[in-house]
Amino acid sequence: MGGEPVPGFRLPDGFLVGAATAAHQVEGNNVASDWWAFEHRQGSPAGTPSGDAADSYHRWREDMDLLSELGFNAYRFSIEWARVEPVRGRVSRAALAHYRRMVEGARQRGLEPVVTLHHFTVPAWFSANGGWTAPEAAELFAGYVRTVAPLVAQGVRYVVTLNEPNMLAVMQTLVREGLEAAPRHGHIEPDPAISEGLIRAHRAATSVLKELCPHVLTGWTVANQVYQPEPPGDPAARAAATAYAHPREDLFLQVSREDGWVGVQSYTRTRVAAHGPLPVPGGAERTLTGWEYHPEALGAALRHTAEVTGGNVPVLVTENGIATADDRRRIDHTARALMSMAEALRDGVDVRGYLHWSALDNYEWGSYEPTFGLIAVDPDTFARTPKESARWLGTVARTGRLPG
Ligand code: NOJ
Repeated sequence: MGGEPVPGFRLPDGFLVGAATAAHQVEGNNVASDWWAFEHRQGSPAGTPSGDAADSYHRWREDMDLLSELGFNAYRFSIEWARVEPVRGRVSRAALAHYRRMVEGARQRGLEPVVTLHHFTVPAWFSANGGWTAPEAAELFAGYVRTVAPLVAQGVRYVVTLNEPNMLAVMQTLVREGLEAAPRHGHIEPDPAISEGLIRAHRAATSVLKELCPHVLTGWTVANQVYQPEPPGDPAARAAATAYAHPREDLFLQVSREDGWVGVQSYTRTRVAAHGPLPVPGGAERTLTGWEYHPEALGAALRHTAEVTGGNVPVLVTENGIATADDRRRIDHTARALMSMAEALRDGVDVRGYLHWSALDNYEWGSYEPTFGLIAVDPDTFARTPKESARWLGTVARTGRLPG
């Protein structure tokens, strides 16, 4: 992977450096969503409910003030469909006004808004209607996109239709089959009908945006697992890794060839032997989510994305980070990940920005324990405290240089 390290690397002009969040994980009280219903079902396997999360629905100005004071020039956040259309066909003008203020607020603070239209959660009514495999799913999603298009049209450059559709396909298959099915299977084969439903929804959303806001660059973000053959040069392992990666990642990256850009979301790697995926080796260093500590996965994910999409689709790193209680480790991880990104850039991968996951410690789908934030959030008072890593990455943003 890559050549010599690139100390003191200068980021290209206009490069975005910022952080990301998602509505359900930071806003709190997303009561009309399917995930809220899932969290509160009797005997639910969902874990700790999201509750007030980081109360960002009310504190978003403070969040943006901090990001801009730290020196960042971009903020990725999501619009919550369940708030915009809590009841089928009934649009909340208050929610629309809220997100319009957020888009304007980001711009006023010098933060490029990277706007996600769907980040894992949907209105409960959509899910009761059959979710992404319902015949009218794409049309329903496109209807919501039509509703929010006017606020996207106000100068948003980068729009994410769906966040990690490849992960969503796995998660939804898992939820449908029952969470207890996972250990039995060892791993889950995403249901092709769900994947196809998501692809259709993405294309429908894209054509609405092309029609209503032609200046917007539309794309989606893919969870990049960096499937590496083990042992590395073994042809049978390579074939197995490619076959394993196809329904879980590459299929979705291929769709990106039609798009204005693609988001890369990288946290770790997965090794695949000839007989299938391998667990994280016993002695390997892990993060609080149990994933292997491997910051250089980012560079590999970027190269893989360029390869699968043909190299002509601009890339934004829309998520990269680490769940850790040790902020020094977050800085080390980010420094190494950025270095691997710089090598990919130097080798010609068209990377336009880096958005760290996450701006805030937040609700990690069932738990508040794995802390990914650059900014700590007090669970009782919601007071925000930037960590050293926030200042460190803010300096990268301000100077446009990677330390080294
Ligand atoms: C990807 C998802 O988009 C985000 O919601 C999640 O919190 C992070 N990965 C970390 O697991």
